[in-house]
Amino acid sequence: MKTLITNIKELVQVREHTISKLQGIEMKELPSIKNAWLLIENECIADFGSMDSLPTLEVDSKIDATGKMILPSWVDSHTHLVYAGNREQEFVDRINGLTYEEIANKGGGIVNSAQKLQQTEEDSLYEQTVKRLKEVIQLGTGAIEIKSGYGLTLEAELKMLRVIKRLKEEFPITIKATFLGAHALPKEYKDNREAYIDEIVNVMIPKIAEEQLADYVDAFCEKGYFTVEDTIRVMEAGKKYGMPAKIHVNQFNAIGGIKAGVENSALSVDHLEVMNTEDIEALKGSETMPVALPSCSLFLSIPYTPAREMIDAGLPLALATDYNPGSTPSGNMNLVVSLACIKMRMTPEEAINAATVNAAYAMGISETHGSITKGKKANLILTKEIPSYGFLPYSFGSNHIENVFLEGQPLN
Ligand code: NIG
Ligand code: FE
Repeated sequence: MKTLITNIKELVQVREHTISKLQGIEMKELPSIKNAWLLIENECIADFGSMDSLPTLEVDSKIDATGKMILPSWVDSHTHLVYAGNREQEFVDRINGLTYEEIANKGGGIVNSAQKLQQTEEDSLYEQTVKRLKEVIQLGTGAIEIKSGYGLTLEAELKMLRVIKRLKEEFPITIKATFLGAHALPKEYKDNREAYIDEIVNVMIPKIAEEQLADYVDAFCEKGYFTVEDTIRVMEAGKKYGMPAKIHVNQFNAIGGIKAGVENSALSVDHLEVMNTEDIEALKGSETMPVALPSCSLFLSIPYTPAREMIDAGLPLALATDYNPGSTPSGNMNLVVSLACIKMRMTPEEAINAATVNAAYAMGISETHGSITKGKKANLILTKEIPSYGFLPYSFGSNHIENVFLEGQPLN
């Protein structure tokens, strides 16, 4: 099956070869071809070029993209898409003056979601999640990482991971699963955090590895949640079972999680709203991708990741949504890219690089996603008629997506 798209106003994020990650000033360049064509063969990008050099091709279908642009789909490398119900009441509580921390201390927050999830049947959890997945696909997301972490018991964590497995089987979007048992301390372990980490390391991780239900492990390394030592234990256990780490660090406090992540070859360290000089130094020259989650900063009214400082120090940066019921009930990567420009002073080029090439690195899928490169998955965004790619973040809140392609197939 061959599809030819012609007269593309601008084909964006064109890379001759797979690049693993972009850092520092490299992020300022966003290569593109104006007035371009693109050939899709089965599920992959087969070829592309300028309309001046369009060869004669036998194809099954043709799309005229006059005035419209093509980008690689967004890669959302950090979500908690599987959850039960919502936490709208906590949203109102915060409007009325409570903080995220005060709500968690009152028994709200993550344990509130865990209670709801434990009482929800697997099929219902699946259906609730499907709605969100369909929504983010229409918003241009073509690859997504999904975490567990609202189960907090072996049984409920397995339930979440089975839901993710079923999504992988049923949907053409690329999905990676992350085990986040160390998300919050279950009530039963209130005075015995170490015993819960023992359970994660000795029981949960081996079981999940045996059933091949997760690609990565995660922990919420934060005051009042899990210590750096706890996080290291989780990362080491993950490594032992072939699951690298992607960790939650520096959301509210800088307690040394970034250095620990780098030392344990974490694929990514995510959140980073609070960064100090040692954190930036630890990331320099490392293989660990820093990931910013600006829609979480927006929703919780907390600081934004200091992107300018990080990129100017030569670091790479990726962007993700953090879609979850508590701190970011939104999976809109278009909004994330806008916020990165508006609130983090990233240029449109830097933000688009962060949401594609660098995001693919943070998900471990650089070989197949994140750029317009021959042989990569034809997971694409076709825009409506827009004047330039910078118009996407500029006109925040508008939807400029006309169609999306997953594995070469148009969705609409
Ligand atoms: O990434 N910070 C930890 N976990 C989630 C929020 C969890 C929740 O509030 O339900 C996050 O923001
Ligand atoms: Fe998160």
